[in-house]
Amino acid sequence: MVAARITVNGNEAPIAPAAPHTTVLDFLRERGLTGTKEGCAEGECGACSVLVARPGVNRPTDWVAVNACLVPVAALDGQEIVTSEGLATPGEPGRPPTLHPVQEEMAVRGGSQCGYCTPGFICSMAAEYYRPDRCAQAADEARTAPGTDAEHGPNGFDLHALSGNLCRCTGYRPIRDAAFAVGAPTDEDPLARRREQTPPAPVATAYAQDDSVFLRKSTLAETLGVLRERPDAVVVAGSTDWGVEVNIRSRRAGCVVAVDRLPELRELRVESGHIEIGAALTLTEIERRLDGEVPLLAELFPQFASRLIRNGATLGGNLGTGSPIGDSPPALLALDASVVLADADGEREVPLADYFTGYRQSVRRPGELIRAVRVPLPLSPVVAFHKIAKRRFDDISSVAVAFALDVDGGIVRKARIGLGGVAATPIRALATEAALEGRPWTPETVEAVAAVLREEGTPMDDHRASAAYRSAMLGQSLLKLYTRTTEAVSS
Ligand code: FES
Ligand code: FES
Repeated sequence: MVAARITVNGNEAPIAPAAPHTTVLDFLRERGLTGTKEGCAEGECGACSVLVARPGVNRPTDWVAVNACLVPVAALDGQEIVTSEGLATPGEPGRPPTLHPVQEEMAVRGGSQCGYCTPGFICSMAAEYYRPDRCAQAADEARTAPGTDAEHGPNGFDLHALSGNLCRCTGYRPIRDAAFAVGAPTDEDPLARRREQTPPAPVATAYAQDDSVFLRKSTLAETLGVLRERPDAVVVAGSTDWGVEVNIRSRRAGCVVAVDRLPELRELRVESGHIEIGAALTLTEIERRLDGEVPLLAELFPQFASRLIRNGATLGGNLGTGSPIGDSPPALLALDASVVLADADGEREVPLADYFTGYRQSVRRPGELIRAVRVPLPLSPVVAFHKIAKRRFDDISSVAVAFALDVDGGIVRKARIGLGGVAATPIRALATEAALEGRPWTPETVEAVAAVLREEGTPMDDHRASAAYRSAMLGQSLLKLYTRTTEAVSS
């Protein structure tokens, strides 16, 4: 096997002697690329953001921003990244470099004070600058035209691209001004041109040191063979959860197996009875490929962590960790989804409602992998995802509630309600569903059934919220759903 290598700002470098658990952030900084900063080391501040060349949604390659503090550098064997240092164009000897348009706008609009967060903002902003379907307009127009809304600039810039970047001293308005002022890449822009060529192919990797190894196999069958031999292996896709364990809890694994580039886990198919979503597609890829086809997921995605996290996180990972406060399980429970589990002997399909068995436990057996999630069709039309958290973006939910109702002739024919944060596992609100089905969709029903919903689960007091608050929020969420959807149902 060829020695592991990575291309950084156009220069190829060996990954050795980094350890298999070494993050991209530490790898870069040890090589003097100290523009990439460490703020939190757990995916919350974006100071470590870098650009990765990934298979594109609408073009061969997309430049995707990820948290370098979470991704092991071995996971990028054979891949190509760009850091804040690689965005500017070097000047002639003795002359300063020419700033990238994003850097230029940040500089002239006062988007940087201490500068610690700035390289991360620059990389996240550059990814949005190069997003192929961003409505590109000239910077001059952008300066004068009114914004589409508070979160989208007249240049098509989606501020959610920066939802994973924190700034502690500048204030966000000058940063937003810079974002809404960038124009379109020119034809000569090398990173814009790079989008037209294929991205680096995934590379089979066996990067070992001492008693630990990072493995990437080429096929699902090979991967399942490894998992049969090493049921202790940690399976990673975007490493958005495992990276935190490595950095904050100093956990180490003898064997880490990457599944994020397995073709069998990266398909999205609409079939007659269901939509099948590959477990290793990132949330951003699912969001862009579904393009609103599953309205409940379309509501969920903007509330799931940040764009930087969604660029790495997967449904397989969110279900695989079995967290009771993961954001996708309530939505998938409301959608009546099932998981397709694969091992070396074959596959089985398990309804998600039967998947969780206890705190961070599931029916998934050692050696088994989540290959896909199936969402049955047709979809219920009345949907909502309510995430109650201290911050609107980039936060962990105190309570999450997802609704999917069929209301026909003013009667609730079918109700599916998924809850997070009120029990040791994500749960269905079965008593509430039963109380709703067959009843008229009226304020009286909603008032009465909200009392049932308040009693679902076994919420706890913890540092995020009290049990009483969590129960109260459950009831409020049904009232909010009714208020928001009455008009749509009656029309
Ligand atoms: Fe804060 Fe990586 S250092 S997100
Ligand atoms: Fe200081 Fe953002 S410029 S933290």
